Amino acid sequence: MAPSLLSASSWAAAAVLLCVPFRASALDNGVGRRPLMGYSTWNDMGCEGLSSAAVRATADALVSRGLAALGYRYLNVDDCWALPRRVAGALRPDPNKFPEGMAALAGHLHARGLRFGLYTDRGMWTCGAKAGSEGHETQDAQDFASWGVDFLKEDSCNAPGEPRQAIGQFALMRDALNATGRRIHFALCGWDPWYAEVGRALGNSWRVARDVNGFSELWNAVAINSRLARYAGPGAWNDPDGLIGSSKGSRVHLGQNESRMQFSLWAVMAAPLVLGGSPARMSKFDLATYSNEEVIAVSQDALGRQGAVAWQDCPVRNLGDLADEAARGRYSTPPACVQLWARPLLGGDVAVLLANWGTEPATASIRPSNMASWGFQGGADVRDLWAGAGLGVRPNGLYVNISGHSATMYRLRPSRLMV
Ligand code: GLA
Repeated sequence: MAPSLLSASSWAAAAVLLCVPFRASALDNGVGRRPLMGYSTWNDMGCEGLSSAAVRATADALVSRGLAALGYRYLNVDDCWALPRRVAGALRPDPNKFPEGMAALAGHLHARGLRFGLYTDRGMWTCGAKAGSEGHETQDAQDFASWGVDFLKEDSCNAPGEPRQAIGQFALMRDALNATGRRIHFALCGWDPWYAEVGRALGNSWRVARDVNGFSELWNAVAINSRLARYAGPGAWNDPDGLIGSSKGSRVHLGQNESRMQFSLWAVMAAPLVLGGSPARMSKFDLATYSNEEVIAVSQDALGRQGAVAWQDCPVRNLGDLADEAARGRYSTPPACVQLWARPLLGGDVAVLLANWGTEPATASIRPSNMASWGFQGGADVRDLWAGAGLGVRPNGLYVNISGHSATMYRLRPSRLMV
């Protein structure tokens, strides 16, 4: 049996709660059957740049730049939309930022074929010191439903991190959302790998690591998520945080190769594809990255299996150490090493990714010997998803040069499936 991610006592607490029959598990809300695709305001607008006008312009850009048609339909308004709460009062949008109110904004998005996402916190205050939902779950869920909200992220600032209490708070909001009768994608934001064991019963996705704001955080989130594949599936996904583009004007950005590497990894890991940069100001490079339909097809594959590391020369670290490093905000530099990832797809194809975490170029191979357990004893027909080209039947696999901080990605059809 796999070792538990929770300590014995915290697992016992979680198990007690899990034994109580939930009125409806997250899987019963029918949403999130594929990893969510959309955009979040957080890394783009933060608090200061957030406004109804900016959100409307973003909605237009999602549509006009073809991103909505590719599946990026959720426009998620993150922290700082609300005022601090009046005692016993309802959540109120900041009238300077959202003068028309949230229902009108939702209507605007829905009319464009988009879905409306909103943010709250399970504590009294959000990370940005706005009103959270603690003690107001029923009232807030009803307001969200009446406004036309399709997605809710619930954050964990100013709230207990201890599993029993955290699970109890998320369960309150889950039940309150279920009671509204509206199908609302529920995204837990608790920044810890232990959520993977209980997440499926609570929500449609759960953050497994801290905020990814750079390449070292990216390595940490991937190292954590690589251990959690068995918990993901249709309706319930591990969430290693949003996508970071390469546009230098964005609040948070990566290098070009790094951003494409992240997108490739997120597709293989069946992670939510939530754009963090402005769709209106998105560079041609980023637009090409996020519009790669063959990579999107891997992400959205109906089998819904999260990919796993099939081979690596990266050091395998203790999950607790990785989580502690992130909690302290002291990330180690990614090691100079290569990982080979594989994700089984419906119909027998396999998505394969080679990730070079080092800064220097590296050589790696996809061979029958390191892919044998994936059915490649007889070789495969290979398609390069970033070159957009078939590489032909490779009975002995292929050797690849990978630039530093980069990934290459393929779709393989095992020879036994070829006619
Ligand atoms: C936390 C979350 C982020 C974002 C901010 C908003 O840090 O992890 O994703 O929502 O709060 O304040």
